[in-house]
Amino acid sequence: MPQLGDTVPDFEAQTTQGPIRFHEWLAGSWAVLFSHPKNFTPVCTTELGDVARLKPEFDRRGVKVIGLSVDELARHGAWEDDIEETQGQRVDFPLIADHDRHVSQLYGMIHPNASDTLTVRSVFVIGPDRKLKLSLNYPASTGRNFDEILRVVDSLQLTANHSVATPVNWRQGEDVIIAPSVSDEAAREKFPDGWKTLKPYLRVVAQPKG
Ligand code: BEZ
Repeated sequence: MPQLGDTVPDFEAQTTQGPIRFHEWLAGSWAVLFSHPKNFTPVCTTELGDVARLKPEFDRRGVKVIGLSVDELARHGAWEDDIEETQGQRVDFPLIADHDRHVSQLYGMIHPNASDTLTVRSVFVIGPDRKLKLSLNYPASTGRNFDEILRVVDSLQLTANHSVATPVNWRQGEDVIIAPSVSDEAAREKFPDGWKTLKPYLRVVAQPKG
């Protein structure tokens, strides 16, 4: 199972948008790979609808989205119709058909003491360097909050672009924290409008633009 900072494993898979080789599909983009336990199940249906609703937000951040389930490719199309009918959203991102559980095993999405056949609800956020930036696992009975995944993406992109970290419960537009790895001297160049030093290790600055 990949850990934070690892290059994520490559694989080949069938998806609803054709066969892919994962590293090629990433193509230097940010990406979110997420698993759901099973097609035609209630919580999964609501989750897929919500990711479809949020797709323009992922697009705006340059983040590719790809789902996975252990069902066969032939079962994905009819389920996508159900999602559109009940959630009012057409799924317009690829779904991996991981019938042989190759990808699920590679990414540690099967937790045998929860279920030895179905995946848990895993999320992997992957950077343009193909390294793992975030992973989380939820049980089958709890739908995830994909607004939170977008919030994490915003935080990760701020760190990548501006060397800042985000404090507890941070929301878009609120103050951020200058990363401890940035010296005061370097910070003066990066943040010419200044910052507030609450402690030498806690320097608060307005959220950088862009
Ligand atoms: C669901 O999506 O509702 C679900 C999937 C697998 C097991 C239990 C619930």
